[in-house]
Amino acid sequence: MMLSLLRPLLVFFLSLLLLLLLPGTQGWAPGYSNGFHYQDISNGNGNGEIYFNGVRLLVESPQPSVLATRGSSVILPCHYHYEPEPSTPRRTRVKWSWLPANTITEPASPEDLAKETEVMVTMGNRHRSYGSFKGRVRLRRSAPGDMSLVINELQLNDTGRYRCEVIDGLEDESVTVDLELRGVVFPYYSQKGRYHFNFFEAQQACRDQDATLATFEQLFTAWEDGLDWCNAGWLADGTVQYPITVPRDGCGGVDLAPGLRSYGQRHRLLHRYDAFCFSASVKGIVYFLKHPTKLNFTEAVQACASDGSQIAKVGQLFASWRLKGLDHCDAGWLADGSVRYPINKARSNCGPPEPGVRTFGFPPLFLKYGVYCYL
Ligand SMILES: *[C@@H]1O[C@H](CO)[C@@H](O)[C@H](O)[C@H]1NC(C)=O
Ligand SMILES: *[C@@H]1O[C@H](CO)[C@@H](O)[C@H](O)[C@H]1NC(C)=O
Repeated sequence: MMLSLLRPLLVFFLSLLLLLLLPGTQGWAPGYSNGFHYQDISNGNGNGEIYFNGVRLLVESPQPSVLATRGSSVILPCHYHYEPEPSTPRRTRVKWSWLPANTITEPASPEDLAKETEVMVTMGNRHRSYGSFKGRVRLRRSAPGDMSLVINELQLNDTGRYRCEVIDGLEDESVTVDLELRGVVFPYYSQKGRYHFNFFEAQQACRDQDATLATFEQLFTAWEDGLDWCNAGWLADGTVQYPITVPRDGCGGVDLAPGLRSYGQRHRLLHRYDAFCFSASVKGIVYFLKHPTKLNFTEAVQACASDGSQIAKVGQLFASWRLKGLDHCDAGWLADGSVRYPINKARSNCGPPEPGVRTFGFPPLFLKYGVYCYL
């Protein structure tokens, strides 16, 4: 901030020096517009534009955060203008960069800025996109100064904090927009038992269920929506927490207000907990397979394959339950060897009075249930 305030001043004095030292030199004749004059010593390469005074570059976004759907397109709004407007168009560069959700720390730390990586850089009509954004991003450009970023085919791991930075010579202003996905958080533990995952195993476990480790924001939202879970799990930022809506003994105690109980950052290799996974909408559908008999696990996997689909993953079941209203009162095998069923309209004989995905844990694989498939 200080630097950006000092820069124009510094430039002003340097330019004054130039004027005094090099009278009559070609290529620096000051231009006059609206009473504000600036000098371009860049010889057209886009660098080194200078303001003498008065002109301000403003970069704004009407939405500090955007909620989107996996697989769809999203627009992260950003536009800029000058005050006062210059009479001739200015040459600007625009850079979009981002901080993936799993690297954001709460509260924000100064190191966050250094962890930002590039999404897209544009200069005039030329542009370049990077990493997993290659071929998926463009600028909207629906009006002069509109530098909104359009991202197609949104993926689970696109969430995070995006920065729109406009660079005009030595001026440089930016604004951030948070991207969140519509989805559902679910607690997940290993087939081998409770508190079995280190951080990396938790990451992999969520991935295996077509999900990703939940961010603090996602768990917080789930808690606001009523999630209460008395087992600690890894989050994407490497902290271990759990959401409590009804304070009680053994879950932080009755004296603590409802909220997220946090153990803070834990050792990513040595410490073991459950996981909080985040799953967003899925393209396909999850269905309970109509089958004349109940099935053991091997038969269940085979039955979905015979039906032209695959046995469903836990993340797919939760997403279908939460985002598509899947409701079926029959326990069925899932790909990880767990048995569950999704209830939206609670009724007698279908578990507790609240909606939810009921779980039977990981029963022995020879036991017989139905099966949920994914197509
Ligand atoms: C994000 O997810 C996609 C699809 O699952 C994957 O191909 C990509 O490598 C992931 N990117 C990162 C940075 O993890
Ligand atoms: C399931 O039943 C089949 C016979 O239909 C048997 O071959 C298979 O071993 C059983 N699988 C398990 C896990 O018990």
